[in-house]
Amino acid sequence: MRKRIYINDDWSFSGAYTDEMTAPDYDAGGFEKVRIPHTVKEIPYHYFDESMYQLLSCYRKTFKVQKGWMGKKVLLTFDAVAHDAEVFINGEKAGEHHSGYTAFTVDISELIKYGSENVIAVRVDSRESLNTPPFGYVVDYLTYGGIYRSVHIDVMDNTYIEDVFISTKIANPYIGSGDEDSKAVMLAGKAGTVSGIKVSGDAEDVFIRQSIRKKGEEEYRELGITAFEPERPVEQRFTDVQLWSPENPALYEIKTELLRKAPEGDGEVTYKEIDERVDRIGFRKAVFNANGFWLNGSKYKIRGLNRHQSYPYVGYAMPDSMQEYDAYILKNELGLNAVRTSHYPQSQSFIDKCDELGLIVFTEFPGWQHIGDDAWKDQALVNLEEMIVQYRNHPSIVLWGVRINESVDDEEFYERTNALAHKIDPTRQTGGVRCYKKGIFQEDVFTYNDFSHTGDNKGVEKKSQVTSDTSKGYLVSEYNGHMYPSKMFDWEEHRLQHALRHANVLDEVAAQSDISGSFGWCMFDYNTHKDFGSGDRICYHGVMDMFRNPKLAAAVYASQKNIEDGADPVLCVSSSMDIGEHPGSNRGDVYIFTNADSVKMYKNGEFIKEFQPADSPYKNLLHGPILVDDYIGDQLETKEGMKPAQAESVKQLLNAVARTGLYDMNKLLYLKAGRLMVQYKMTMEQATDLFGRYIGNWGGASTEYKFEAIYNGEVVKTEIKSTSSERRLQLIPSHTELKEDISYDAAEIRIRLTDEFGNVLPFANDPLKLSVSGAIELIGPDMVSLQGGCFGTYVRTTGKKGKGTLTVSTATGETETVTFNVSK
Ligand code: GAL
Repeated sequence: MRKRIYINDDWSFSGAYTDEMTAPDYDAGGFEKVRIPHTVKEIPYHYFDESMYQLLSCYRKTFKVQKGWMGKKVLLTFDAVAHDAEVFINGEKAGEHHSGYTAFTVDISELIKYGSENVIAVRVDSRESLNTPPFGYVVDYLTYGGIYRSVHIDVMDNTYIEDVFISTKIANPYIGSGDEDSKAVMLAGKAGTVSGIKVSGDAEDVFIRQSIRKKGEEEYRELGITAFEPERPVEQRFTDVQLWSPENPALYEIKTELLRKAPEGDGEVTYKEIDERVDRIGFRKAVFNANGFWLNGSKYKIRGLNRHQSYPYVGYAMPDSMQEYDAYILKNELGLNAVRTSHYPQSQSFIDKCDELGLIVFTEFPGWQHIGDDAWKDQALVNLEEMIVQYRNHPSIVLWGVRINESVDDEEFYERTNALAHKIDPTRQTGGVRCYKKGIFQEDVFTYNDFSHTGDNKGVEKKSQVTSDTSKGYLVSEYNGHMYPSKMFDWEEHRLQHALRHANVLDEVAAQSDISGSFGWCMFDYNTHKDFGSGDRICYHGVMDMFRNPKLAAAVYASQKNIEDGADPVLCVSSSMDIGEHPGSNRGDVYIFTNADSVKMYKNGEFIKEFQPADSPYKNLLHGPILVDDYIGDQLETKEGMKPAQAESVKQLLNAVARTGLYDMNKLLYLKAGRLMVQYKMTMEQATDLFGRYIGNWGGASTEYKFEAIYNGEVVKTEIKSTSSERRLQLIPSHTELKEDISYDAAEIRIRLTDEFGNVLPFANDPLKLSVSGAIELIGPDMVSLQGGCFGTYVRTTGKKGKGTLTVSTATGETETVTFNVSK
């Protein structure tokens, strides 16, 4: 039976490499002790030279091989080594691998010494001069380096299950037909699996037994035993399976056992199990067609963001819990139903979480704009095959990206990638992300980065303007991003414009029924090369910052969640209501982002208006941003004694002046003002006085704006905007129960400085002191500063169990502590 041993601890690392280092008796005393996931070089938050991680390095590990393993198959698997790896066992070369984004396995059975110590040495090349994707020209993200995903050893019988590819069948004649009325109803006995099974070793006279259980169930249900035939997939039929979808991400585990007949006893046939593996699957039918995207016969509008797999300081090197947390944020905080893993396959733990949470995934093979020579292309094909074989059992993945992101047409190359993808996974369609329209269209779905939105035009172009063949599916794979970089500390109107651009695109995508959906650029800010970003090695393209603190634009997505589906209520008002932040001290536009039924606004306790979703200028979004167009309510009637008609006209005028100021007011409003003064015999003094009292509000007590989100008649969330006079430090940990498991665990802590009402102070750039004690250590520096009221840090476990604390303090005396509990 298979035994898996994770070997992420006790590695030695040298940031310089010489050939002698792979020798078993090399004195690695000068090496650094490290744990996997590991990065070859920690980098500063920003402003650094990205050549610092582009180096040759060496990892070594000594491990004991038990005598009992003799005669067995011993396989060593690296989940990811960035970017080129050569593996040596006891000084002998065992294998090599040329992509930083897929796993690889080397057979070490013949190279290890049984019953004694063995040495694994890995030469790691993280130079960007490698002739493999994505390298060859410039790349808009850092590629980092090191053994940054887990390493394990499998010990098993010489005959073992090398691979199981399970495709699901759901026999509903309507599914994928494009008929909107047809819903996939699971009929008894109409679902099944087809497992393509690869057995390595002596596959003569072996048998396959499969069993199924729903995720969370204790017991497997046996599905039967069949003789194994290499070319014949094993088919199973079921009753009562639930379909996988974003709303109900039902998962099943299929256990596949490899058996041999035990020597005949007295008549009864018995089997001896020689290997077993469990694959987690979901039953779903996903189709992109001319009309859009269909899942289980229902039309879905894909609403997603692009995600890089990077983190501050350590780049790609973060354990599973941090990968999973990103999926959680996408689904539960941002309310998305999809993610594109730009521009490479991301960790299995991230995709596993997408399976569990119901996030639709578009994943693609590594690359960025550049296509290299023949050797480079051959390597790209290897990467593609590895990606599909390693990820094809995930129900969340619905589309393979088989073009190098934003590359030019290359008919022959893309003929090969499409053919390969279809051959090794006939169940999924292909896409290929491009940055220009039309062209040679070899994929099943036209996936296009539509950067046409400039703030004052339509959010996206029409499908017919973009694709070469409108009879096929169409998906917007990126938008916004570099079109409007936005920082946490940008001025308010900039942050609002960033948010509105996201809303503009989402609204237009929602309006066009033949667009399958869209993926915004991007989930969070990321470190990049000198050629991109703001000069400090950051692309400020995220709807969140690098620590996953939400920018205003995040509220556009978050507010699309539905409370009736169990989501939390969202209420976010775009402005701090400080008029001095705007040109001419005008109020500018203020928007409410909410998923509530309505929002009531009060000024100094006085009810002003109940804003309704129907007031939103965004007509195609379920919960479009709502413009605050009234700061006065009916006070002109109740307090000034004006008649309704006069009150309404004066109010309109005052509200317009509030937003734009006198100088920007349009001519019609000027005329109206004149007419009003004549009609109601108002003097300039009276008008100025009304403005001062209802709009300007200078002097006197602070003005307090209160917003109440109403759902089912109840106040479900409140936001108060008023003069801030207190500073509160807030630490938001991803989780506080940490676990030393297959390796160290890490937690993210988002740090914010807020006012007494919980609003982030957007221009607070205070220094912060970070300190830890107990069973954790800091990732990154212990002295940082807020950037636009927010920052963050990471802590990781150290191999010990028990309590650990993180304390953060400001120079002005605010101190907060988070306590973690580390178990083993
Ligand atoms: C795209 C590219 C992305 C990112 C983005 C920035 O062209 O595919 O990787 O660079 O632009 O907006």
